[in-house]
Amino acid sequence: MLNALIQPLSVAAYTMHSELSNSSRGAINVVLRKVQPDDLPLLFEFESDPDWCAMAMVKPRSAAKFDAVWTKIFEDWVNGLTNVFQKTIVADGEVCGTIGCRLLGDRHEIGYGLGQAFWGRGIASRALSLLLDQVPMRPLYATAAATNDASIRVLEKHGFAIDSRRISPETERHLPCEEVVMVLHKRQS
Ligand SMILES: CC(C)(COP(=O)(O)OP(=O)(O)OC[C@H]1O[C@@H](n2cnc3c(N)ncnc32)[C@H](O)[C@@H]1OP(=O)(O)O)[C@@H](O)C(=O)NCCC(=O)NCCS
Repeated sequence: MLNALIQPLSVAAYTMHSELSNSSRGAINVVLRKVQPDDLPLLFEFESDPDWCAMAMVKPRSAAKFDAVWTKIFEDWVNGLTNVFQKTIVADGEVCGTIGCRLLGDRHEIGYGLGQAFWGRGIASRALSLLLDQVPMRPLYATAAATNDASIRVLEKHGFAIDSRRISPETERHLPCEEVVMVLHKRQS
């Protein structure tokens, strides 16, 4: 995860979008809504961005893999299974990413990602706040590459604290990296 080549890319991308602090920008209207099949091409484009992958320390997936994952999620929903809670993030009317929570083993884990054009505007922070309103399970876990300062900050702002650190091995999807596991036991008031 601590990848000297990759980190400067994510920092540069963040800097491009963060010349104004979140508080100095106009208020953005963020909503979470049901994922629609029409959202998928854009969500795939977002996560295929090399800077996105570098920040999340993942390898890009093929369109076929992406489609297979989403086909299964839609099938599960049709069959009434609720193990995956996943929403499209819409900011000022534009689809800008996705956020969700799924049961992995015995843990409820959250995850999110935005298209690069939407970074640095407070959208992930707002989306996480909305998710925490909609998902009652606690504790909630999240894992982030130790280099992913943006994601760690989003989580910390909402009361997540570092639970542990571990070395995450390379997999078909993930790059090898140091990872922080973060946990939220109780929502901040
Ligand atoms: C991580 C991600 C979701 C953050 O979304 P975002 O909407 O840009 O985050 P926000 O604007 O809400 O910023 C949240 C905080 O992080 C800070 N931050 C954002 N990017 C940062 C960066 N690269 N380095 C340091 N801090 C950063 C912001 O300043 C803000 O803190 P503040 O409110 O104290 O000023 C987005 O960058 C993304 O989608 N990245 C690619 C996918 C990914 O990494 N997903 C998470 C996997 S664990």
